[in-house]
Amino acid sequence: MSMYEIIRKTKHLRPLTSEEIKKLIDGYVSGSIPDYQVAAWLMAVNLNSLTDEETLCLTMAMKDSGDVVDLSGINNVTVDKHSTGGVGDKTSLIIGPVVAACGVSVPKMSGKGLGHTGGTIDKLESIPGCRTDASFSDFIDYVRNTGFSIVSQSGNLVPADKKLYALRDATATVDSIPLIASSIMSKKLAMGADCILLDVKTGSGAFMKTTEDAQALARLMVATGKNAGKKCMAVITDMDIPLGKAVGNSLEVIEVTEILKNNVRGRLYELCIELSADMLMMAGKGTKEECIRLSEDAISSGRALDVFRRSIAQQGGDIRFTEDYSVLGEAKKKHVVYSLRDGYISGMDSEEIGLASLALGAGRKTKEAPVDYTAGIMLEKEYGDYVKKGEKLMTLFTSSECSMEQTEEKVLSALKISDTAPPERSIVIKVIE
Ligand code: URA
Repeated sequence: MSMYEIIRKTKHLRPLTSEEIKKLIDGYVSGSIPDYQVAAWLMAVNLNSLTDEETLCLTMAMKDSGDVVDLSGINNVTVDKHSTGGVGDKTSLIIGPVVAACGVSVPKMSGKGLGHTGGTIDKLESIPGCRTDASFSDFIDYVRNTGFSIVSQSGNLVPADKKLYALRDATATVDSIPLIASSIMSKKLAMGADCILLDVKTGSGAFMKTTEDAQALARLMVATGKNAGKKCMAVITDMDIPLGKAVGNSLEVIEVTEILKNNVRGRLYELCIELSADMLMMAGKGTKEECIRLSEDAISSGRALDVFRRSIAQQGGDIRFTEDYSVLGEAKKKHVVYSLRDGYISGMDSEEIGLASLALGAGRKTKEAPVDYTAGIMLEKEYGDYVKKGEKLMTLFTSSECSMEQTEEKVLSALKISDTAPPERSIVIKVIE
């Protein structure tokens, strides 16, 4: 079947066979099928969607387009975790050490941040000396030593996704649920872990703005993972407000350390315990309640902090920062934002907060742009807190020439302050098994 016929089939809602999908992906990666034909097919998918069966075939063909990681050298049950991305989402740096401290290995490859959402690799690289460009054999050694490592995506992993994502970006076809599901799941399957936990964010700071879309994406990814032979589950979580108090790389590393030192409670801690317990449960460590207790104990006993410190040290990081945060460096400028009125914090648009943090230099507007690791926002008040006029709301940090006054305007307009207390929000919206 020609590419022309493949496009026609999807245009007329006739399902493609796995051979046709494989031919499309292999032809695109090898260069024998041109961009313009694949762009036309992507638009047909965007408008007409794909069946679950087609999504599975697309995921497998994408996964097989490059190397597949062999984790057998770890000799332990392995669990991978993926977040669809958000503002202040530093959970991987907490959950990895917690799960590893409970005897389950967490090998993870991650990406850099782009736009208003942060990336775990940038957070790690904000620690002086910490390297994320390990060779594959070093990565396996790291996981064998401490049970946990996060490095940058390397090697020829899912080249089909790199090409397809760039084309989707240029043709307004990113926002298709089967295309997002196959993009994420092909990379997770190529990583080779036994179990996969998906944290699908929903709300203003997330890719999926509505719970319905997040649920559809989560359901499709879980079905794809299971049909590919993995243990897989998804948790839909709230990203309408930022996660935790810190937004920005080294500020988030400090917040991670404080959680691992058992000094902080709240939504971030709660989510980390919940997700760690799900990962342990998939790895066969017990019931949900037992795994919650294991996760809490990993933090309160200091074992998770120990894994974190040893993992960062083996990647070259200067772990003196866990005792002295000034080791992480300090932004040249600080600016405190005060409340203009009394009331309860009843909204905090996380996309706007993420964009303000980006403006301060904490993120990248383009793929190659440099990042100011010390830049960002530290929230002093959170959703539901009561604030008095003139009280501190947050502190902005930057070393760049950006205007603090303009950023202050931006963050103030992201906040909603009302006379009555807002309803409680649960961090976990739904679990999809
Ligand atoms: N993240 C991915 O990895 N792929 C997508 O298509 C969207 C978000």
